[in-house]
Amino acid sequence: MSRVIVLTSGKGGVGKTTVTANLGMHLASKNYRVCLLDMDIGLNNLDVVMNMEDRVVYSMLDVIENRCRLKEALIQDDCYPLLYLLSSGGLNRNLTITLAQIKSVVAELGRMFDYVLIDCPAGIDAGFKRAVSCADEAIVVTTPHLSSIRDADKVITILSSYDIMSKRFVINRARGDLIKDKVMFDVYDIGKSLGIEFGGVIPEDDNVITNTSEKIKNHKIALNRAFDILTNNIITGEKKLFDCTYKYRGLFGSIKKLLRKSV
Ligand SMILES: Nc1ncnc2c1ncn2[C@@H]1O[C@H](COP(=O)(O)OP(=O)(O)OP(=O)(O)O)[C@@H](O)[C@H]1O
Ligand SMILES: [Mg+2]
Repeated sequence: MSRVIVLTSGKGGVGKTTVTANLGMHLASKNYRVCLLDMDIGLNNLDVVMNMEDRVVYSMLDVIENRCRLKEALIQDDCYPLLYLLSSGGLNRNLTITLAQIKSVVAELGRMFDYVLIDCPAGIDAGFKRAVSCADEAIVVTTPHLSSIRDADKVITILSSYDIMSKRFVINRARGDLIKDKVMFDVYDIGKSLGIEFGGVIPEDDNVITNTSEKIKNHKIALNRAFDILTNNIITGEKKLFDCTYKYRGLFGSIKKLLRKSV
């Protein structure tokens, strides 16, 4: 049975699109059929993060408005043949499509894929409602900053009024050095305050910008290890934690911390 998971946050810019893309690549690397569905209509950029922007011909809007068939709008990843993107399309006009039409596209995707990952727009307006209404599960992405955690908390409350069977949170952009110095909230404390299931911790890492399907298997990159743990948690329901403070323990760790501060 297909799992339809929406990645949402409330606050903008916390990493929903990044987490959607990387989770999708990791799931596909484990031989699951995955569709990434961009529901950030008008401000879509999942195609850019996936390096597929030059290949987008049709979007979800074209499917709904009968300009193409669903299969024609799906873009296959170059590295993982089981990974596809359905772009939402730019928005140059009033959106007249209905929720029922979007749900019917998602239902069709559900028959074709093991996982449908929906990249939700920021905020809690119409776009959020559309994206969340189509999903059975939610991943709430937050950074370890108070404003982001507060918005995540509000979104979790709002999600209770939708048919979402399971809710998990992911802490993105965690800085091990700052957590160790107690400058940044500890991941356990954030978990306690949000009160939903733990999904994963993703470190702050510049590799995120250049990470591609080919590179995600490189486990020397901490980011990839963290996404691997998150992916296994999603698949199996485990709640393993990526420890982003490991580099900053002991004497060498303290030196690394000082070096990072001086950058
Ligand atoms: N773990 C990370 N380490 C470093 N940079 C990151 C990380 N995650 C995301 N970023 C960067 O943060 C920026 C915002 O990420 P992203 O677009 O995924 O957020 P978003 O929640 O989808 O934003 P929006 O609400 O606008 O859709 C991007 O420049 C991205 O490269
Ligand atoms: Mg986004």
